[in-house]
Amino acid sequence: MTNSLEGLKYMKMLVTGGAGFIGSNFVRYILEKYPDYQIINLDKLTYAGNLENLKEIEGYPNYKFVKGDILNAELVEHIAKDVDIIVHFAAESHVDRSVLDPFSFVKTNVLGTFVLLEAARKLGNKRFHHISTDEVFGALALEDSHKAFHEETPYDPKSPYSSSKAASDHLVRAYFHTYGLPITISNCSNNYGAYQFPEKVIPLFVTNLMEGKKVPLYGDGKNVRDWIHVDDHCAAIDSIIHQGKIGHTYVIGADSEKSNYELTMAILKTMGMSEDMIEFVKDRPGHDRRYAVRSHKIKAELGWQPKMDFDAGIKKTIQWYINNEWWWRRVKSGEYLEYYDRWYNR
Ligand code: NAD
Ligand code: DAU
Repeated sequence: MTNSLEGLKYMKMLVTGGAGFIGSNFVRYILEKYPDYQIINLDKLTYAGNLENLKEIEGYPNYKFVKGDILNAELVEHIAKDVDIIVHFAAESHVDRSVLDPFSFVKTNVLGTFVLLEAARKLGNKRFHHISTDEVFGALALEDSHKAFHEETPYDPKSPYSSSKAASDHLVRAYFHTYGLPITISNCSNNYGAYQFPEKVIPLFVTNLMEGKKVPLYGDGKNVRDWIHVDDHCAAIDSIIHQGKIGHTYVIGADSEKSNYELTMAILKTMGMSEDMIEFVKDRPGHDRRYAVRSHKIKAELGWQPKMDFDAGIKKTIQWYINNEWWWRRVKSGEYLEYYDRWYNR
C-alpha cells in the first residue's frame, strides 16, 4: 500500500493530545514548517494538558482547538470527517501514575485508541499515525550493553503504562491487517525539552533545584534511559507521516544513553550545584533497568537523523525552565502536590 500523503502540498490533520508536552511541540513544529497545513487539536486538558503550551499560535487561522475526550466517539467522528490524517499523541503518559491509577491508563490508552481507530475506519479508512514508546519492549539488563531495541524486538511491557501502550500498538496493527487501515507506528525513547510536565525526571529535577529542594533519585541511580530532544522526535514523526511505508513501524532514538546518576550530575553541573543535592529514595516498583534503541530503519529508509547533541540539548532545556518559571510554577501546584503526597506515601 502506498503512502497517499507523499508529495501532498496541503494537509488537514487531527492531532490528539496536542496540548501536552510532545503534542504541543509537534503542533508548533508543523505550523512553522508547513504554514498552509490545517490542524485540529483534540485534547481533554487533563492535568498534563495546558493551553499555555500553545499560546504563540492562539488565534492562528489554520489552527483550531477542541476540548474533548478521545473516548467520545460521536465527537471524534464529527471532527475527523474531513481530515487527511489522525496523528495520535493523547495518552496517560507517566509510569509512576500508572502504578497508582492503572484504570485511567487502560481507558485512555487502550479504549481511546480503539475509538479513534473505529472512527478512522468508519470514515473511509483515514490515514492514522500512532505515537508509541520504546517501553513496550520491556527492559534490557545493564550487563547486555551491546543490546538495544529495534523494530523486530518482541513486546514485553512491564508497567501498567507500557502494557496499555503495547495493547494500543497491537490494536493499531490489527486495524491494518484486518481492515486495511493505512497506519504507521513510531516507538520513541525518552524525550526532553520545553513544556515537559515537571513530574518527569528532567523538569522535576531542574525545577526542584530552582526551588532549593533536593532531587529524588530512585533506587541506586543506575537505571539507564536513552534521551532524545523533542524537536528531533517531531522531525522523525514528520518524515514518517510524509514518507513512511504503510503498515510499518519505526523505532526512534538519538543514541544518547545515560544512567540516571550521570543525567543528574549533568544537570547539577550545568546549574552549578553539587552532588549533595541528590537524595536517594525508595525505588519505583518494577523499575525497568535499561532502555536503548537503534533507529537504523528510519535513518536508512527516510533519511531522518537526530540533530540535537545531548550536552547542547540539556543546557538549552535547563535554560528554558529558568526563563519560563511562570509556566512551571503554575503547573507545579494543586493536583500535582496531591499526586506527590500519594506517590511518596504509597
Ligand atoms: P503528556 O502527558 O505531556 O500529554 C498527554 C496529552 O494527552 C495531554 O495534553 C492530555 O490532556 C491529553 N489527554 C490525555 N487523555 C486524553 C483523553 N482521554 N482525550 C483527549 N486528550 C487526552 O504526554 P507526552 O509526554 O507529550 O506523550 C505524548 C505521547 O507520546 C504519548 O502517547 C506517549 O505515550 C508518547 N511518548 C512519550 C514519550 C516521552 O518521553 N514523553 C516517549 C515516547 C512516546
Ligand atoms: O521511554 C519512553 C518513556 O519515557 C515514555 O513512554 C514515557 O511517557 C515517559 O514518561 C518516559 O518514561 P520514564 O519512566 O523513563 O520517564 P521518567 O521521567 O518518569 O523517569 C526517567 C528515569 O528517571 C526513570 O529511570 C525513573 C527515574 N526517576 C524518575 C523520577 C520521576 C527518578 O530517579 N526520580 C524521579 O523522581
